Amino acid sequence: MTRPKVYVTRRIAQEALDIINKVAEVEVWWEELPPSYEMLLEKVRDIDGLLALLTDRIDMALMAAAPKLKVVSNLAVGYDNIDIMEATRRGIVVGNTPGVLTETTADLAFALLMAAARRVVEADSYTRTGKWKTWGPMILLGQDIHHATLGIIGLGRIGAELAQRAKGFSMKVIYYDELRRSDEEESKLGVEYVPELSKLLSRADFISVHVPLTAKTRHLIGAAEFALMRPTAVFINTSRGSVVDQKALYEALKSRQIFAAAVDVTVVEPIPQDDPLLNLDNIIITPHIASASFATRTEMAIMAVENLIAGLRGQVPPHCINPEAIRS
Ligand code: DGY
Repeated sequence: MTRPKVYVTRRIAQEALDIINKVAEVEVWWEELPPSYEMLLEKVRDIDGLLALLTDRIDMALMAAAPKLKVVSNLAVGYDNIDIMEATRRGIVVGNTPGVLTETTADLAFALLMAAARRVVEADSYTRTGKWKTWGPMILLGQDIHHATLGIIGLGRIGAELAQRAKGFSMKVIYYDELRRSDEEESKLGVEYVPELSKLLSRADFISVHVPLTAKTRHLIGAAEFALMRPTAVFINTSRGSVVDQKALYEALKSRQIFAAAVDVTVVEPIPQDDPLLNLDNIIITPHIASASFATRTEMAIMAVENLIAGLRGQVPPHCINPEAIRS
């Protein structure tokens, strides 16, 4: 019996490759940088399954070039790199990796919050560049984290985990979401619902965004929203770069309309080296590493492979965005 053909767009955990190698003919793109779009167009011609990353654009033209494609398994919880409507129309199921990266991502969001508030990155560079001459009562002052108010935009899985972490620092947690949690969940998480985003922005000392990128959330935070924040506010984004109007973020930081920001995601990734944000000392920018722990990336890869195998077998993957793609 011929084995299905699978293309994996980057090196993933060996444990996961071992699983897929048992059931399919696997080709892996071993380079550090992603395959170009043109290369992908070539590679998908004869495959049944694709294990993709958020750096791979899976659009209409790509799917049209892959007549046998049954499943796209994204190694990420986010899937804004994939045209889901087109996949569904073509009967291609799409899988993602929710849950396994929740806590690891919340850990990084909290690490960024702390680092920006207490100027950890700036202080490290202060030491390394010989600026540390003495202990000074007014040197490198930051914002307190304990007992401050954290405003979470989007209280899904990751937002809720961030709320748990904030408890350990005696923070007050408020949240805004289109979907309000039940009274029971709110009291378990110790969070207060704020029905208007503008109210959250003006009340919070720390603001952290946890929404997926959709047509509705693109530029959710722009100049008007930064204008509502306190001058002492710290802004965190570990979701997707385009949820924020990056020019407005630059202006807010440059003019000290807000105190600081820390982002793990940017509109263009990697951020171009001439981007003005890189000239500011009140922003920390990490290279989209929120889920990057050894354990989590292995779990994500295994989950992605399980989704892929189910799709190859004509089944709905355990974590599927568009189960309706499989017509009964
Ligand atoms: C995701 O999964 O969507 C993250 O951005 C990468 O882990």
